[in-house]
Amino acid sequence: MTTHDGDGGGTDGVDWDARAAAFDEEPDHGLRDPEVRAAWAARLRAWLPRRAGDVLDLGCGTGSLSLLAAEQGHRITGVDRSPAMVALAREKLAGRDAAFLVGDAAAPPVGEERYDAVLVRHVLWTLPEPRRALRHWRDLLRPGGRLVLVEGVWGTVSPVGIPADALTALLAPMAGQVRVERLSGDRALWGRDVDDERYAVVAVPDRS
Ligand SMILES: C[S@@+](CC[C@H](N)C(=O)[O-])C[C@H]1O[C@@H](n2cnc3c(N)ncnc32)[C@H](O)[C@@H]1O
Repeated sequence: MTTHDGDGGGTDGVDWDARAAAFDEEPDHGLRDPEVRAAWAARLRAWLPRRAGDVLDLGCGTGSLSLLAAEQGHRITGVDRSPAMVALAREKLAGRDAAFLVGDAAAPPVGEERYDAVLVRHVLWTLPEPRRALRHWRDLLRPGGRLVLVEGVWGTVSPVGIPADALTALLAPMAGQVRVERLSGDRALWGRDVDDERYAVVAVPDRS
């Protein structure tokens, strides 16, 4: 079941193990600034189910969003390919109702478990087969469950990422409800002004 390969280098060519220690220094990563933290907490509260439920945080990194979700009463399973990231997430959520696993976000090692929400921030765009990953994540949801996908296109000279239109096109075959929320204009989320494309998609797929 486990896909632990001890390889913190993901499919995006980045050595996430090497980056783990400094990862939280970015305002939107570590959420250390109270204003940034409050901005993400408010968004997450609106995106996640109102009732406390089971949240699967894929590519969870150091667990910053996992912690916000746990503070809002949700039970967390986090999965990341980088053992160093997972170690930091375990530390950050010590004593909470949370478990962290080393594994591939595209095929999380969660067996037959099902979730009320699959939360993925800044990871989908790096996966080699995003359509396939989305289908798999849909299948990990309980009836009425939702995908919460936070993505964007970063940089203006050599942009990387996935535009919202492309992501909603990938979700179209799953039908159901899809809501796109634009995030670029909300300075509090990033700790600075940004002019590239940043957004969240909340999708409640139909069962097929
Ligand atoms: C930009 S960070 C985002 C971390 C976290 N989601 C957040 O928003 O703070 C990308 C994370 O995804 C992880 N990652 C990249 N590819 C992955 C994969 N195929 N499976 C699991 N984790 C992956 C990296 O190890 C890293 O922790």
